[in-house]
Amino acid sequence: MGKPVILVVDDEKSIRSAVSGILEDEGFVVRLAESGEKALDVLEKEIPDLVLLDIWLPGIDGLDTLTKMREKVPELGVIMISGHGTIDTAVRATKLGALNFIEKPLSLHRLLIEVQQALKQKALERENRELRMQIEMQYTMVGNSAVIQEIRRTIETAGPSNGRVLISGESGTGKELVAKAIHRASQRASAPFVEVNCAAIPDDLIESELFGHEKGAFTNATYQKKGKFELAHGGTLFLDEIGDMSLKTQSKVLRALEEGVIERVGSTRSIPIDVRIIAASNKNLLNEIEKNTFREDLFYRLNVIPIHMPPLREHSEDIPLLINHYLEYYCKEYGKPMKNILQDALQALKKYSWPGNVRELKNEIERLVIMTPLAVIKLDDLRDSLKQPTSQGNNDIEFTTQDDLKSAREKFEQKFILERLKEHNWNVTQTAQHLGIERSNLHRKLKQLGIQTGSNGSADARTN
Ligand SMILES: Nc1ncnc2c1ncn2[C@@H]1O[C@H](COP(=O)(O)OP(=O)(O)OP(=O)(O)O)[C@@H](O)[C@H]1O
Ligand SMILES: [Mg+2]
Repeated sequence: MGKPVILVVDDEKSIRSAVSGILEDEGFVVRLAESGEKALDVLEKEIPDLVLLDIWLPGIDGLDTLTKMREKVPELGVIMISGHGTIDTAVRATKLGALNFIEKPLSLHRLLIEVQQALKQKALERENRELRMQIEMQYTMVGNSAVIQEIRRTIETAGPSNGRVLISGESGTGKELVAKAIHRASQRASAPFVEVNCAAIPDDLIESELFGHEKGAFTNATYQKKGKFELAHGGTLFLDEIGDMSLKTQSKVLRALEEGVIERVGSTRSIPIDVRIIAASNKNLLNEIEKNTFREDLFYRLNVIPIHMPPLREHSEDIPLLINHYLEYYCKEYGKPMKNILQDALQALKKYSWPGNVRELKNEIERLVIMTPLAVIKLDDLRDSLKQPTSQGNNDIEFTTQDDLKSAREKFEQKFILERLKEHNWNVTQTAQHLGIERSNLHRKLKQLGIQTGSNGSADARTN
């Protein structure tokens, strides 16, 4: 941070020079203006950290100048100065957004104290704004792909209802993000959002975690404890990794959902609860039902509004947006100037298959922000596994959300046939034999796929 810039607006030359003298002695950078018009001109070029503004000015007066300044820069800090200070003008200035009011004749000592205080207040306000923005960014679901837009619509529609939501999807795809977004879009937004990670809590503790317990209910129950259901009363209970919940606990949860009451462990008193349940799992619960590890009746209770989070490789068109979002976020977080990403690095990041989904991408961007010294991120800065994007097994077939089965099959066929051709040294006859199709059939396919075949019966890989 450079030195704070203070704009002093007064029509009296002697005041301007006295005030600028003392402010410069204190290490501030001072700009001067002798009228409201001139002050507004200064504002066009530079936003000062603070303005000292005389009330009585020739031309447009101080109060009008104040109004115009704050229209231009709503967060601008302004202290009013006047020789004709009446309570009335002070009140009007404060209503127009002035921070404070100093009367002439000026006590330079008092002026300095006011300036320091105003700067401190403005710095706090700025910090507050930035923190709020950072928090908002943590809640933002980034993406313009059709799938993400559809999920956003579902959140908007389902959010305000009380309908139970079951979110599925691989690890790191944004299940928790969606759960929180639904809560924020609901009428319960100001009530608690309570989270239980069913996979992280040992089985003998989960019941007391969910339903609470009475003092003396079991050996270590030395005090009464409210469970997550009670803590979420009026709000949302997020049951994360529900596929890992034991059958015994599942049946208790089912009962709570069916009857709308819970009992603390060690008590028979029924406590009514009003919670909205959102559950999530990265397991396919239908498979778990098949294996008898998940209750079918609970599944149907939870699965009123299903939301499936796609793996990142299925909406890779969102990768550039996600990269930018997290570059901005982490550059702010670590107090660095915004970084840019060069084309080759961006291409590599777009091509990679991201088995850890958005979380993995987010972590890589954080690492890049911390580790790259320059303002640009190059291919060479990426971690090794990202630098050779095409050596990832079969991942170099790029499916997009626009692909239908036919185009996806064509992409796969092209890759498969090309590999076999390479193995057989571009010999069509041998390749056809290996693939178990007629030679003429293979020729036709090669033509369809845009692979040229030479007159000697060998194929040529000059494709797109
Ligand atoms: N579309 C998105 N836009 C911005 N950030 C996202 C998006 N999807 C996920 N994230 C971020 O990625 C990280 C992982 O997301 P989240 O924790 O919601 O995943 P999850 O599906 O619950 O994973 P797990 O199954 O491992 O618990 C979070 O920091 C989240 O904010
Ligand atoms: Mg999660």
